[in-house]
Amino acid sequence: MFSVQLLSAVVSGALLVSGKPLDARGCDTSKAAIDLPANQTALVAPTTNPLFVMLGVGVQNYSCSSTTSTYTSIGAVASLFDISCLETQPQFATIQTTAFNVWSKIPSSVSATSIDSTVGAPFLLGFHYFVPSPSGTGISPKWDFTSTGSFAGDATAYVIGAKVGDIAAPTGSTTNVDWLALNGIQGSLASKIFRIDTVGGQPPTSCVPGSAPISVKYTAKYFLY
Ligand SMILES: *[C@@H]1O[C@H](CO)[C@@H](O)[C@H](O)[C@H]1NC(C)=O
Ligand SMILES: *[C@@H]1O[C@H](CO)[C@@H](O)[C@H](O)[C@H]1NC(C)=O
Repeated sequence: MFSVQLLSAVVSGALLVSGKPLDARGCDTSKAAIDLPANQTALVAPTTNPLFVMLGVGVQNYSCSSTTSTYTSIGAVASLFDISCLETQPQFATIQTTAFNVWSKIPSSVSATSIDSTVGAPFLLGFHYFVPSPSGTGISPKWDFTSTGSFAGDATAYVIGAKVGDIAAPTGSTTNVDWLALNGIQGSLASKIFRIDTVGGQPPTSCVPGSAPISVKYTAKYFLY
């Protein structure tokens, strides 16, 4: 563990200086082509290698709108595990499903961070959550590495995103949250963010006005460029 941390500290330094396609743990991301559906143009794969490929494990939060009796998104919170070293492994394609099967069955008192080794992705890179939007209106998603792993203490190691593309999950949009493309609008971690291979996270189709907010478990892959 100690030597891994040492290595990742060294390599992430190299990443920042050289811009080579190495992620925080020294894994080659050049084979991590993002797999997007061919029948759409809303999500466009970058031509460069990803900087980070991550498994997100967490919840999507919703409140009940009293005017429409439907749920409205009020943010999300997730733990982000590095899976870039798994790209060439057979488990990479389905790790979001493997993780969801574990995550969806454990009690809500158990944190997402604690399932890491169970699903074969033991390296926590950071956290995903929402913050007041830099534009001054609403909330914006943030991917934050500033308190974890080799980026701990680097106050710029985050990115806040603004959505630029959105498609219904090709794997089933009633249960799985949309696949997204976002541009970085603040922070130095990345300039583009994709959420794909989503499992879960969709709220029930209707709600009782006045009912409490809900959290719906989900997993996804996040690609940062
Ligand atoms: C989402 O809900 C979880 C509890 O399930 C809570 O810890 C988190 O702060 C909530 N985040 C937002 C943005 O509502
Ligand atoms: C695109 O293809 C996926 C399967 O990969 C399918 O589920 C989806 O419905 C298609 N979308 C459109 C708009 O044709």
